Amino acid sequence: MSKDKDVFAGGVAVITGAGAGIGSGLARRAGELGMTVVVTDIDQARAEGVAAEIIAKGGKAHAMVVDVSRPQELDRLASEVHRQFGDVRLLVNNAGIETIGFTWEIPVERWEATLNINIHGIVHGVRAFAPYMLESGKEAWIANLASVGALSVMPTQTAYIMTKHAVQSFSECLYLEMELKQAPIHVSSILPGMLKTSIFEAGAGKGEPDGASQHRRIMHDLMAAHGMDLAEGCKVILEQVADGKFWVSTQPEMTQQAIDGRMAFLRDQSAPALAEQAKQLLDIH
Ligand SMILES: NC(=O)c1ccc[n+]([C@@H]2O[C@H](COP(=O)([O-])OP(=O)(O)OC[C@H]3O[C@@H](n4cnc5c(N)ncnc54)[C@H](O)[C@@H]3O)[C@@H](O)[C@H]2O)c1
Repeated sequence: MSKDKDVFAGGVAVITGAGAGIGSGLARRAGELGMTVVVTDIDQARAEGVAAEIIAKGGKAHAMVVDVSRPQELDRLASEVHRQFGDVRLLVNNAGIETIGFTWEIPVERWEATLNINIHGIVHGVRAFAPYMLESGKEAWIANLASVGALSVMPTQTAYIMTKHAVQSFSECLYLEMELKQAPIHVSSILPGMLKTSIFEAGAGKGEPDGASQHRRIMHDLMAAHGMDLAEGCKVILEQVADGKFWVSTQPEMTQQAIDGRMAFLRDQSAPALAEQAKQLLDIH
């Protein structure tokens, strides 16, 4: 039996990008587990909607508008949360965007947004909150959203994939830093396989090159057909985080497959090669 309720009930959770998708699923689950949930998102209406849902079910939630690509907004969030709600037990650095297109065709703005949201958003989330956590001396959990994509590569999703590799190594180093400090802070790297969310919706691809739309549509349909149920996936994630696991997977078989492929690639020092399924998808480019 998971200890998620024992560990999290009565604590404060802060989740970025919680107005939709995995962030919203984790926020709802944290609310069910009895946490006070700070639902943050760049989109105010979405954040307020998720907070209202949690409250309607008898939970505690507050919506805050935060753009994770701006480090000073994460500083403001950390000080505001501590002033209003006290120590944070669970921080989930979740906000992220997918970007599709050949490296040289993606406009500067979209490159910057991808790096700033997916990498800097997580780095500065930790930079802003960790000092408060360390200062309190209390047990706390930090979970960062990587992806199975952190263990593999995919041309034309280059911008996204490289951010997930970066997040994975960041979380590994952070875990060891907490160990060096002997801090009671657990660090988890969440590697979802595929959960049903809005990440591949057409509107989320603003600023991508024209050629991205067909790839985006195929991924959207694949996710709709084969993605894991969001609520189920988010329940599983928080169970593993509560258990203090570093590796958190929603579909362990997908994670294992990616690890096996990566291990063989590194062991053999072979040239990068596309999997059969990827070849079919990339035929459209
Ligand atoms: N869905 C999956 O199967 C899957 C798989 C692997 C990894 N992930 C990761 O999970 C995380 C969430 O993805 P999702 O699928 O739920 O996406 P989503 O698009 O459904 O939701 C993302 C949320 O983040 C918010 N957001 C976007 N830019 C922001 C910013 N600058 N500041 C704050 N909030 C912002 C959006 O408004 C939205 O509410 C991402 O880091 C993604 O890479 C998802």
